[in-house]
Amino acid sequence: MEAAEKEKISVEDEAVDKNIFRDCSKIAFYRRQKQYFSKKSTHQALLDSITASEDSTRFKIINEASKVPLLAEVYGIEGNIFRLKINEATPLKPRYEVPDVLISKLGTVRLISCSGDAGNLVLADGKGNLKCHITANPFKVDLVSEEEVVISINSLGQLYFEHLQIPHKQRAAKENEEDASIDTSQENQEDLGLWEEKCGNFVDVKTNGPASIGLDFCLHGFEHLYGIPQHAESHQLKNTGDEDAYRLYNLDVYGYKIHDKMGIYGSIPYLLAHKLGRTIGIFWLNASETLVEINTEPAVEYTQTQMGPVAAKQKVRSRTHVHWMSESGIIDVFLLTGPTPSDIFKQYSHLTGTQAMPPLFSLGYHQCRWNYEDEQDVKAVDAGFDEHDIPYDVMWLDIEHTEGKRYFTWDKKRFPNPKRMQELLRSKKRKLVVISDPHIKIDPDYSVYTMAKEQGFFVKNREGGDFEGVCWPGLSSYLDFTNPKVREWYSSLFAFPVYQGSTDILFIWNDMNEPSVFRGPEQTMQKNAIHHGNWEHRELHNIYGFYQQMATAEGLIKRSKGKERPFVLTRSFFAGSQKYGAVWTGDNTAEWSYLKISIPMLLTLSITGISFCGADVGGFIGNPETELLVRWYQAGAYQPFFRGHATMNTKRREPWLFGEEHTRLIREAIRERYALLPYWYSLFYHAHVASQPVMRPLWIEFPDELEIFGIEDEYMLGSALLVHPVTEPKVTMVDVFLPGSNEVWYDSKTFAHWEGGCTVKIPVALDTIPVFQRGGSVVPMKTTVGKSTGWMANSPYGLRVALSTKGSAVGELYLDDGHSFQYLHQTQFLHRKFSFCSSVLINSSADQRGHYPSKCVVEEILVLGLRKEPSSVTTHSSDGKDQPVAFTYCAKTSTLSLKKLSLNIGTDWEVHIK
Ligand code: NOJ
Repeated sequence: MEAAEKEKISVEDEAVDKNIFRDCSKIAFYRRQKQYFSKKSTHQALLDSITASEDSTRFKIINEASKVPLLAEVYGIEGNIFRLKINEATPLKPRYEVPDVLISKLGTVRLISCSGDAGNLVLADGKGNLKCHITANPFKVDLVSEEEVVISINSLGQLYFEHLQIPHKQRAAKENEEDASIDTSQENQEDLGLWEEKCGNFVDVKTNGPASIGLDFCLHGFEHLYGIPQHAESHQLKNTGDEDAYRLYNLDVYGYKIHDKMGIYGSIPYLLAHKLGRTIGIFWLNASETLVEINTEPAVEYTQTQMGPVAAKQKVRSRTHVHWMSESGIIDVFLLTGPTPSDIFKQYSHLTGTQAMPPLFSLGYHQCRWNYEDEQDVKAVDAGFDEHDIPYDVMWLDIEHTEGKRYFTWDKKRFPNPKRMQELLRSKKRKLVVISDPHIKIDPDYSVYTMAKEQGFFVKNREGGDFEGVCWPGLSSYLDFTNPKVREWYSSLFAFPVYQGSTDILFIWNDMNEPSVFRGPEQTMQKNAIHHGNWEHRELHNIYGFYQQMATAEGLIKRSKGKERPFVLTRSFFAGSQKYGAVWTGDNTAEWSYLKISIPMLLTLSITGISFCGADVGGFIGNPETELLVRWYQAGAYQPFFRGHATMNTKRREPWLFGEEHTRLIREAIRERYALLPYWYSLFYHAHVASQPVMRPLWIEFPDELEIFGIEDEYMLGSALLVHPVTEPKVTMVDVFLPGSNEVWYDSKTFAHWEGGCTVKIPVALDTIPVFQRGGSVVPMKTTVGKSTGWMANSPYGLRVALSTKGSAVGELYLDDGHSFQYLHQTQFLHRKFSFCSSVLINSSADQRGHYPSKCVVEEILVLGLRKEPSSVTTHSSDGKDQPVAFTYCAKTSTLSLKKLSLNIGTDWEVHIK
């Protein structure tokens, strides 16, 4: 056995002591910023230094104590976005500015100086949509929209900027030189970690010294905040007080604690705030360790008596202070002004891109386990799905499929013939996903290692050698994905001739890419490791995983010569990761509380751009009791990425191992998922082209209903379905809030209906998944479910038309070949629109550009909420032919059912109900 393997890298290595993770009090830049504010020193904008160019306005800011000049740049960005950059005017060396996240063509809008004097300045765009007031002393910016101050920047004076200094050793030599910086005066205080900081047994030696930044934002009238994943926390952000900031630092936390603000696998430094009438966003583009404090001052009403004899009532609006602090980099912040939730999603995607259009198979069910042992095991599990009549699309292989955790290889004993195995899956119209982690085993006989080594493609240590850390394979080096050359080379490894044993049904899973470094500080990489361009790891830690997924997705596209859509699941992510695939919530536990928290965690990811997200069904760690497993399948069937997964040493848990009745329940849940795939796929198209999240908190669909702003035990899928998964044991009743006083909601199984604006008690049995269709919507479905999505391409559609209180409904269907980019390059797609009005259902084109030769027909139409039994139903085709249709009407549920229709999905037709 090799030396590294003797170290017995096992699952226990991941079960690290939770005490290695730091809370805020142990983070030096946080302590420094806190200490500084107690001293209160202000910044002043030097408005006489102002210069304006085509796209930005610049001026200097000076700290009254240090006198070090900062340079501020203000931009208007198309779509009502305001950008403020603050950097040192003349830094000792360049500071890190996050590349590759913003989509390349950010259109700017010229901001013109409207008025102002030495003490202030007003900038506005031509249309008056964006307006900002800059006050010189103390420096403050008020962002004004529709004559209302929406956000103030630096109103608490928390602008903080540690300027780069000559390294302290060199400076010691120049002992007598005076330096009036903030930081020098603190230098003797060891615990401020200016040049060195302890983290457990590690010492972080900082070549660049202290470089942290910070800024506060006051959100006027806002008390409901969301976003900044990833935390195992509530959807609505909580007040942090002064000591419990949300941490954004990508870490591998096995069995993470829930209701905790510690950083886990990914970070999106983007926060949304919502109030009646307006949604706004703050995108803090920084990839170093970041902390966010949130403090709401609620609205108060008080009586003023000093004003004279008549007491006056005064109302002070609520406001929330958000304080961002990052360890290094520059201040580069985007303020998104909404005003609607839908505008906010567009604005954010304008900056970071939209959700990649997933291949259809990836919306089916995925079966994973650490590990499926060998080819025989894969074959047996695959056959098990068919035997039990359970659809599934993707078999997954974890790290044990490789030769000693050498990615891009196969364990010859377990998987002697990977192509044969893939051909078996292909014959079932199924796919394979295998894992590929960023650590590369140090082994001179492993070609991936030697190629990367020779080309200098690994992250370096401080001394200039390759960084070495322990992960699954034992001692490893880590690919430096921040280097475009490394990404290009890595992506070329997925080419079919290079990746031996791979075929075009093989897709990729990127794991451990925080990056996870066993026994490293907080189980990750030393902050002073060195990346391409000589940047320290601390500058870009949070974006490392983003780059791996980017390179992998590019590799999969390249191997198909640009023709096929990739599928890449990643554990670590950053703002913009939505462009490259899917994200899951890592190592959760098989407990009810983890099932419950999966909903707010996924809602938060969804509204910060990552629509394609999911949590391990069943819980990764431990053995779920049967009831929990069933409930988890039911919840997972209604979450975007739907994968069962379990760690080693857990009992096998394929869906048929829990007795016939439970197999039936799981089968039903998975089949419900497959029946709804046309709706899911259409929602993903919408996320892809129009930036709207697939899974939505209620406040997005009902932004004017204050009482729902904190709801996180139910959510909307698109705008038509409300889902309230059962997340507690032995439940016989759930309270479901059905929003909207003008709405009507239909139970998706019983078709019972309720008026909106109230909580209803829904009886539940173990087979109940509480799902409600909103009146006014049409949901496209498949009437039959196959062994996998591949078997369903030509199967018929059903339309579930749920009438609004006014007797109307609308909906859409998007379809294409499900796997290629032809929809984009050749407009090979169908986008249909269904509208029901005045007793006529019309199928028409929603996008004339699209064309796709689909043989599919609409076979069934169900109309919910039809008050009166019709006397006749006829179909009317585009060639003018009318045909009577047989129907059944159920007076008890007010449901009209049309079956055995044969209406082509892609042509215009009407159904007339008389
Ligand atoms: C950690 C991942 O979170 C988990 O899903 C995976 O099974 C293990 N690594 C082994 O690869």
